[in-house]
Amino acid sequence: MAYRIAPSLLSADFARLGEEVRAVQDAGADLIHFDVMDNHYVPNLTVGPVVCAAIRPHAKVPIDVHLMVRPVDALVVEFARAGAGIITFHPEASDHVDRTVALIQEHGCKAGLVFNPATPLQWLDHMLDRLDIVLLMSVNPGFGGQKFIASALPKIAEVRRRIDALPSGREVWLEVDGGVKVENIAEIARAGADTFVSGSAIFGSADYRATIGAMRRNLAA
Ligand code: DX5
Ligand code: ZN
Repeated sequence: MAYRIAPSLLSADFARLGEEVRAVQDAGADLIHFDVMDNHYVPNLTVGPVVCAAIRPHAKVPIDVHLMVRPVDALVVEFARAGAGIITFHPEASDHVDRTVALIQEHGCKAGLVFNPATPLQWLDHMLDRLDIVLLMSVNPGFGGQKFIASALPKIAEVRRRIDALPSGREVWLEVDGGVKVENIAEIARAGADTFVSGSAIFGSADYRATIGAMRRNLAA
């Protein structure tokens, strides 16, 4: 299994974002996770396409844009233009989920659906074979530094079963976001995840390389 680690810029130093992007890349990041919050779909407000475009020249790895916004579609186009490589959104925040996925892919980005801890997986019934990523939230979206919600583990296993059962054999990444740390990353991988968002555990540590290295060691064990 190829594992990917995606540091979340939400816990980075926003006064030095370009430098922080370069630092986590040098420390071994596979993706840069970019949390977009609108103070409407979630009770917090972060950054928009202008900031994505500003960090783009610093990013050698794909920028993984996690849209926590409603409505979704207009921002898809703006983030694709701003250099996103991946765009994920919460299906209940879009009136036409199939259309939004198509819009993301038509703009050359990988597309994914995001599930909150209490969001049922039925959204996958008619969509999984079109997706590039399923992102399962293991905290309620809005803030970094929250505790991993254990009920995410059986949900990860269920999505892993569904992906592995796809008749097309399509490659769909299974990403987990919220409360991922050195101590629990192996257990989350055993449940079936292959892509790990981690904000406070990486940016809150003194040595990004040591932290990402410890995550990789635990994944390999
Ligand atoms: C929460 C965000 C996460 C957040 C994760 O709404 O989607 O990406 O940054 O932060 P940690 O890893 O600190 O839980
Ligand atoms: Zn996120």
